[in-house]
Amino acid sequence: MQERAIVAGPPTPEAAAGPDPHPVPTAHSVRVQPLGRRFAAAPGQSLLRAAEDAGIELPSSCRNGTCRTCLCRAVQGQARHLIDWPGVSAEEKAEGWLLPCVAEACSDLVLDAPSAFALFDE
Ligand code: FES
Repeated sequence: MQERAIVAGPPTPEAAAGPDPHPVPTAHSVRVQPLGRRFAAAPGQSLLRAAEDAGIELPSSCRNGTCRTCLCRAVQGQARHLIDWPGVSAEEKAEGWLLPCVAEACSDLVLDAPSAFALFDE
């Protein structure tokens, strides 16, 4: 018995073009505990700014990664700092502590930020 290939028709234009060489990065969802609110964080956007854009206030002062006023902890997901020397020790980073004024989401996140509050109701 001879096997035959199944041909489903001509390739779609997208399939014919191959993988997108310049995929558009997508925003990640960030949930703030214990507030229970979410916001979207675009690639390259600081978590602090993204939260503010969504009407969520996280504590902040210097906004450049030195004062630690904004220090909070990622209890789920991955984030990275946008500057080389943020005011967080290697041990703190390993425990998930981060400075949202100079950090971006690398995946969906859950932040533990007890002092966060919402500027308006959903
Ligand atoms: S606001 Fe100062 S370290 Fe984030």
